[in-house]
Amino acid sequence: MPSRVQKKSLSEFDKYHYYMNSVQSPEADAEFIRDMYKELRSGRRAQSLREDFCGTFAICCEWVKLDPSHKAVGVDLDPEPLQYGVKNHYSKLTEGQKKRLVTLQKNVLDKNLPKSDVIAAMNFSYFIFKTRPLIKEYFANCYKSLNPNGLFLVDCFGGAHCTEANEEETVHKSFSYFWDQDSYDPLSNEAMFYIHFKRKGEKKREKVFTYDWRMWSIPELRDLMAEVGFKKTHVYWEGTDKDGEGDGVFTRTEKGEECQAWVAYVVGEK
Ligand SMILES: C[S@@+](CC[C@H](N)C(=O)[O-])C[C@H]1O[C@@H](n2cnc3c(N)ncnc32)[C@H](O)[C@@H]1O
Repeated sequence: MPSRVQKKSLSEFDKYHYYMNSVQSPEADAEFIRDMYKELRSGRRAQSLREDFCGTFAICCEWVKLDPSHKAVGVDLDPEPLQYGVKNHYSKLTEGQKKRLVTLQKNVLDKNLPKSDVIAAMNFSYFIFKTRPLIKEYFANCYKSLNPNGLFLVDCFGGAHCTEANEEETVHKSFSYFWDQDSYDPLSNEAMFYIHFKRKGEKKREKVFTYDWRMWSIPELRDLMAEVGFKKTHVYWEGTDKDGEGDGVFTRTEKGEECQAWVAYVVGEK
């Protein structure tokens, strides 16, 4: 029979904790944003970051930690991840860092979002915009609310593996993370994804997160950015390690590689 302590840990399931440990790397993202701005802006430094679809706003927290001149604004519609972020990330910041970070419970399509040097939409969240007019409206809104010399950053994924139904398990020390591509429709490029988790010794928890997305391609994203006014666009492509896996190092390139599954960053320059 489980002890009181075991009972407690069995009943508590912190989905954002497992999500963070499976799919997020906020520290690396914040450093990438800092370095990418410096590279594209000839050594100038970005100060303000707006993290759209920020969820638990982990990147905002890492951004204000990186440099005392950094300021961050996180935007998300849903109060639940925002509150989680306050309790679990924001609470660990120093008083000085806290003063440089705000969150807004708002729609990213809102016309009066604060201006910023960089706007980042990470973990493919803008894939919720399934039509060209809608994604274009979002990109135009970002263009408008960037400071002069501002940069707009989105991540993107694709490859043959993403155009079929499949489920992939990643085994961690105490749990497994499952990325389940439930469907893919070549006519619309729409796909349904789920995240499941299984803690050791427990039943698999199905559909902890659900994503009903349209897969946007790199050329579509670059065309859209150009159409709303971005004067240049860039692609950062991931390098490969000795086993042929992504090595987490993204470099600017105009030539990709055919891969089963890839992740890239697309950047628009105002
Ligand atoms: C896939 S999560 C991404 C969270 C975080 N960016 C990350 O990297 O893990 C998508 C988030 O977008 C938010 N969201 C969806 N539509 C939105 C909208 N129109 N405006 C603002 N936030 C939105 C959801 O509430 C959710 O927290």
